[in-house]
Amino acid sequence: MCGIIGYIGNKEALPILMQGLKKLEYRGYDSAGVAILNNNKNINIKKCKGRIKYLENKIDKNELKGSIGLGHTRWATHGKPNNINAHPHFSANNKVVVVHNGIIENYLSFKDSLVNNGYKFVSETDTEILPHLIEKNYRNDITEAVRESLKNVEGSYALGVISKMEPDKIVASRSGSPLVIGIGDNEMFLASDIPALLNYTKRVIFLDENEIATIGKDYIKVTNLEGEEIKKEIIEIEWNSEMAEKAGYKHFMLKEILQQPSVIRTDLSKYIHEEQVCLPDINIGAEIIDKLEKIHIIACGTAYYASLVGKYAIEGLAEIPVEVDYASEFRYKKQLLQKNSLGIVVSQSGETADTIAAMRSCKNKLCSVLAIVNVKGSTISREADQVMYINAGPEIGVASTKAFIGQIISLYLLAIYLGKKRNVLCKDEEKDIIKEIIQIPQKIEMIFSKDKLLKTIAHNVAIYKHFLFLGRDINFPISLEGALKLKEISYVHAEAYPAGEMKHGPIALLDKKFPVVAISPKDHVYQKMINNIKEVTAREAPVIAIATENDEQIKDIVDKVIYIPEVPDILYPLLTVIPLQLLAYYIADILGKDIDKPRNLAKSVTVE
Ligand code: AGP
Repeated sequence: MCGIIGYIGNKEALPILMQGLKKLEYRGYDSAGVAILNNNKNINIKKCKGRIKYLENKIDKNELKGSIGLGHTRWATHGKPNNINAHPHFSANNKVVVVHNGIIENYLSFKDSLVNNGYKFVSETDTEILPHLIEKNYRNDITEAVRESLKNVEGSYALGVISKMEPDKIVASRSGSPLVIGIGDNEMFLASDIPALLNYTKRVIFLDENEIATIGKDYIKVTNLEGEEIKKEIIEIEWNSEMAEKAGYKHFMLKEILQQPSVIRTDLSKYIHEEQVCLPDINIGAEIIDKLEKIHIIACGTAYYASLVGKYAIEGLAEIPVEVDYASEFRYKKQLLQKNSLGIVVSQSGETADTIAAMRSCKNKLCSVLAIVNVKGSTISREADQVMYINAGPEIGVASTKAFIGQIISLYLLAIYLGKKRNVLCKDEEKDIIKEIIQIPQKIEMIFSKDKLLKTIAHNVAIYKHFLFLGRDINFPISLEGALKLKEISYVHAEAYPAGEMKHGPIALLDKKFPVVAISPKDHVYQKMINNIKEVTAREAPVIAIATENDEQIKDIVDKVIYIPEVPDILYPLLTVIPLQLLAYYIADILGKDIDKPRNLAKSVTVE
């Protein structure tokens, strides 16, 4: 949830740490801080509540000279956002300094015994036990002190440690939270996420569970909690730093919405050959696919809604029953899993704690666990049995958009692949639907041309405090995603329901001040949507309809219509979601919200 960064080399550490923190700010942005080891072996710390720009204003560069340092941007779990609870945290006399991302669940028991041993605590955080513990366990080897201190720690952590006693190294470790090390020439970098390193190197090492890295400016040694050395593979990252820049757009979210046609084109170029779906990274044998009796899809947030679209697509195109679960529920429920079932986990970051735990809880109980992921080298991509990448590039905006489209296009391609392998889809049917999918990027661009209309509608409805999103069949999950986007970035209350469910309760909410967004393309449930829209207008609630081009009927019964191009019923989610993303974006922009960093949220939820 938080973002940590570290540098050891010959350059001034401060500008590198600040640059890295800005790239990590989407992970948490309620307070920030840096600690730098200067040439006199002293560690100077500067930290404060609020955004990194406030920290920047507080820093006197001359005070923070040195070429070894750590930085942190926070998403508070224990202790409210303030200058004291901000990281880095330190032991007495700043001998040991720590930055931490995660939650130490049994910190209170450590705190009590440390207090009984005379250690003084200044913050309310769980993290502060670590610098005191490490100092307590120090016997002339800082790596061993960290190892000893972590032995009985429960919960999740990614941490960086520097010390006065051994001012020529950084010690880092992870369990549950992500940590990547960047390999430079005579310098090394530490970060929670790849974009923070891309300006300096593309050569990285991903730390695995319970690994400890001892990092000097020209070496890195990785060991496990038992002290055994582990050989690590250096991976070359495909992304470049420009991809993680705003490139002149007002917000990353807008840039990423407009990147969706190219995300789809990239996936089609990777996964479609000669009018057939080819998934080279998936090695589930034809005999297993044949015998598949069920698929379990597990995810969180927007990835969960993409998984619901996947359910309709796989059941429709491959005729395999699909169960979709929230990861936070799945990991603690009674799991009825069979070997002739496939598990699919969907995650943009590949680091969502609940999804990781759910994946681990069902591995080896199913025929295989396939991950549909964006971030290469992420924990989920490394631990799943097989991986299908969505190739969306770095997604920086906290509200997920291009990753959602990458996730659903990947689930459609998987559905076609399974349908073909099970002879549910014949060659011509596969060809036909691929022909339609290939036109989707261009059809999305046609929706982008309705920008003016979307801005006008956004202006008209930005005054309302409540919204209801309605959809049917495969567009019901899109109504959920539309409501989530609006909630996330504009903080306006929005609910979503299957339209047929409305009269079983939510219709009681409706009046003139409660607009309804009705996803009503000309598909096999169109007439049912029209009936539901009439139930809404009968209660005088304003209605904005997402409808198929040339649908003359609908414009006579609703207040506003956003037309989208026609596609086969099963593919409508690839288009109906676009105006909902833009509507949420423009409403939030009109309300002056911080769209890329909405309050209380973080891009990757690495704690439970
Ligand atoms: C979406 O806009 C949110 N940022 C959030 O719901 C997100 O989808 C969820 O946290 C899952 O993240 P993941 O795809 O990285 O696992």
